[in-house]
Amino acid sequence: MPDVDWREARLWEWLERKAAAVLAGYGYQEVRLPLVEMRDLFSRAVGAGTDIVAKEMYCFQDRQGDWLALRPEGTAVLIRAGLQHDWFRHEQRFWYRGAMFRHERPQKGRYRQFHQIGAEVIGPQGPDVDAELILLAGRLLQELGVGHLVRLKLNSLGNQASRRAHREALLAYLRTQQLPPEALERAERNPLRLFDSKDEQIRAVMAQAPRLQEYWDAESKEYFARLLDLLQSCGVGYDLAPTLVRGLDYYNLTVFEWVTDQLGAQDTVLAGGRYDALCALLGGVPYPGAGFALGLERLLALMQLAHVAQPPLQATVFIASMGEQARAVALGLGERLRTMLPEEVVMVHTGEGSFKGQLRRAERYGAQVVLLLGDEEVARQEVTIKSLHHQGQQHRVPMSELPNVLPRWLAAAADVDQVALPC
Ligand code: HAM
Repeated sequence: MPDVDWREARLWEWLERKAAAVLAGYGYQEVRLPLVEMRDLFSRAVGAGTDIVAKEMYCFQDRQGDWLALRPEGTAVLIRAGLQHDWFRHEQRFWYRGAMFRHERPQKGRYRQFHQIGAEVIGPQGPDVDAELILLAGRLLQELGVGHLVRLKLNSLGNQASRRAHREALLAYLRTQQLPPEALERAERNPLRLFDSKDEQIRAVMAQAPRLQEYWDAESKEYFARLLDLLQSCGVGYDLAPTLVRGLDYYNLTVFEWVTDQLGAQDTVLAGGRYDALCALLGGVPYPGAGFALGLERLLALMQLAHVAQPPLQATVFIASMGEQARAVALGLGERLRTMLPEEVVMVHTGEGSFKGQLRRAERYGAQVVLLLGDEEVARQEVTIKSLHHQGQQHRVPMSELPNVLPRWLAAAADVDQVALPC
């Protein structure tokens, strides 16, 4: 469960702001959802046999004896909330962000507390809905500067009828094979999961297993073909991934993952798909749905690899003062400047300290401009304005002139090549 320091937090804030703008551009609205839910929500939605539910959930009993869980993912939470508050009566596009919890073996790119930005569209069904979702995900990755480091893997699980037919055939096949007891047990819970296995023996068995694609009915085939057509017509590149099955049970038809070869074993940055039976499974009106979630830790790791430009620091004004009277003037000046320049950072030195020490502090905070107030300045109602770039140029100006002078100095500070400062 990583700690995020102030430098990283700045990057988080910036990327969440960018992502929010992209999502808003597609009509998605943010919802804020609880971190804790009834444990059974996830057993029903994600599947009791999945690793997420069977092995990775943080569960605890509250004082009344109810079993609760820290949310391991957001889709089930959103659907629970939407059904409970009747949000889905009309087509809805929602997004959420925040921490998820899975008790996995920690490794690079895999944490026990991690963060997702998730997007879900509830109501409409059709390949165009899935295509737009994929376009949105692609644009998000592009806007965040990692588009060139990821590729889209795409598959269809087929509709419910195809999935059922395939499951039966697959189970029948697996029962005839020599499999370790644990794998057989897994297969009885969800045989698709064995397509994910890294075990050589299981892989060999799965290489001969009945393929999902052989069991697609006409509707499933038509749906996938139309999706591929739409993606091609929008210029979206993809790799077909016939064994991509996802680790959550609620999917049908379209499933997809954006993967990278830059992060080692934990290579999926964004993943999702369609889940038309989830609302009904949770006891609600059977609204179809589809969505995806972007893993922010993996995204950030990629952004660092791609040297995505860091967000620019806000301009900072540092007010240094010496003497009792000057300190009082500095506090009041700080307040006036914050009203005047709401976008900038205004830092007032507090406590004792020489001007030299205060200037060092200003530098450490990355200030561009320092305002110096000593007894003389206070007596004459003036202030010394000093640049921390431009070879430390400084001027004494009347306090009443500051509203005109300071913004010009800040603008000049942003352009460090400019040698002479306007006064
Ligand atoms: P998921 O594939 O379980 O799907 O997770 C989505 C993304 O979250 C992963 O691709 C990965 O980037 C990130 N992630 C998952 N586990 C960890 C971890 N332990 N440490 C770091 N990052 C992690 C879902 O959660 C679905 N709810 C996605 C979805 C939304 N499907 C439809 N709508």
